[in-house]
Amino acid sequence: MSASKGLFITLEGGEGAGKSTNMAFIQQYFTERGLSWVATREPGGTPLAEEIRAVLLQPRDETVASDAELLLMFAARAQHIEGVIKPAIAKGTSVLCDRFTDATYAYQGGGRGVSMQRIQALEEFVLGAFRPDLTIYLDVPTEVGMARASARGELDRFEREQGEFFERVRAVYLARAQAQPTRYRVVDASQALEDVQRDLAAVLDQFCGDLA
Ligand code: TMP
Repeated sequence: MSASKGLFITLEGGEGAGKSTNMAFIQQYFTERGLSWVATREPGGTPLAEEIRAVLLQPRDETVASDAELLLMFAARAQHIEGVIKPAIAKGTSVLCDRFTDATYAYQGGGRGVSMQRIQALEEFVLGAFRPDLTIYLDVPTEVGMARASARGELDRFEREQGEFFERVRAVYLARAQAQPTRYRVVDASQALEDVQRDLAAVLDQFCGDLA
């Protein structure tokens, strides 16, 4: 069975918040209810956007100007929205997206210090009124997340940032969640996995219950 209009659900979290494991849980939730879904991610999700992702994540000696980083994020996003997200939603398939524009507010805005007005202007330009139906933020204290992420091995250009950068990222996510309570749900990802997933299922029941 597929819903007449797919939902657009985004999953956010700091480094080491357990996004991959919990994304798999959300996919399983949809599958078990017979809902059609497609999983994707940002930056990335189309061949062109994945190339931009590789450019963005590659550690490099050259300092990357924060506006260049910002524009590349939105270039990838523009391609992803037109090529994958909107077509899926239009045919009744829900889109489960690992990160979206909230990550730009958190990382480029909070982390890099780009003005929120600048990000907002690009959001209006690229997205118009298009927004996720639901954004789940997996919240974990910065030091816990960083320890988990560094245990994974080779660090990308973002993972090489210092603790204060990730504190600013987290503060923006939490502030945005508080300011937009209808769209956002915060899940405490420092809990045991089964408790995280119980909380996730409760959020999904609330948002997707009438689709099944
Ligand atoms: P990932 O590790 O969750 O796949 O995300 C890749 C990195 O990209 C992550 O460190 C966060 C960063 N990022 C931004 O800085 N801005 C954005 O808009 C997005 C989508 C991701």
